[in-house]
Amino acid sequence: MICDHSVELGAIGSLASPVMISSGTFGVAKPYMELLRGQPVGAVVTKTITLNPKAGNPQPRIYEGPCYLINSIGLENQGVDRFVDFYNDEYGEIGFPVIVSISGNSVDEFVTIARKLNSIDGLLGLELNLSCPNVDGEGLAFGSVPERIGEVVKACGSCSRFPLIAKLSPFQAIDDSFALAAARAGAAAISLINTVPAMVLDIHRFRPATGALSGGMSGPAVKPIALKMIYEISRSVDIPVIGMGGIASGEDAIEFLMAGARAISIGTMNMVDPSLPGQIMGKIAGFMERHDIENLPEISRRFHL
Ligand SMILES: Cc1cc2nc3c(=O)[nH]c(=O)nc-3n(C[C@H](O)[C@H](O)[C@H](O)COP(=O)(O)O)c2cc1C
Repeated sequence: MICDHSVELGAIGSLASPVMISSGTFGVAKPYMELLRGQPVGAVVTKTITLNPKAGNPQPRIYEGPCYLINSIGLENQGVDRFVDFYNDEYGEIGFPVIVSISGNSVDEFVTIARKLNSIDGLLGLELNLSCPNVDGEGLAFGSVPERIGEVVKACGSCSRFPLIAKLSPFQAIDDSFALAAARAGAAAISLINTVPAMVLDIHRFRPATGALSGGMSGPAVKPIALKMIYEISRSVDIPVIGMGGIASGEDAIEFLMAGARAISIGTMNMVDPSLPGQIMGKIAGFMERHDIENLPEISRRFHL
């Protein structure tokens, strides 16, 4: 049987593979991308880019727990102007479609970044990071009202030449109001989940274990939470949902596809094993053959209660 492993993402177009790489988890430069060479990666999402350069939070920024990671990177990046200037050097030859993740403190900031990115040819889309929970005054504060999400999607849609993905935090995915606002405002897809707000203390030093007071939790421990949200949101909106949160194996990826994700994205666990996309795609292909499944959407169509 010939199985079709491509995926249709609506206005974003078609990906050769349903396996994507999540924002912020795979560096912003060539050496990281080299590790993915030859792997069945449908698209790479860049680290979130902001209008101005950001130094990020104090160290330590990563805390590794059993089955989870807490990061408090604080959106460190060099700002959109440098990103545009160096885009060809850093991403020009990676051989995968690129989605640029952006975040702003206001609708205007999002719009300014989106406009500047119009000067790059061939981007697959922009992912609007509406949720980064570990940056004071940004992310959650900005995206705490569905109407604001609608506003930013609409404003970026009217100035960007690329399709938009609205990336939601777990708080914004607890019900479907944020996803619906994004869809109605013209988002091409929804991606979820961003990290779960979390903290860890260093009891012997009487202080937080990360440089910032708290951070965002990711990795296998968040998977069941993400799965439930993807199940619910994918049934509420009629645009594709890109699912992520703790995917560590082919079986995990199949669960996400079965729950309703059109494509899946790997974050934390790709830092542990950069060959994960190939392993996951191999498992998905084997699963499709074993169950006589011709195309990826059939995996979720076969799901029943
Ligand atoms: C170190 C690190 C940095 C991250 N940076 C970003 C970021 O810049 N923008 C963003 O939208 N998400 C960021 N994320 C969230 C991931 O893209 C992803 O949504 C989340 O980690 C859940 O997936 P995972 O459990 O597979 O990692 C980051 C996650 C980690 C672990």
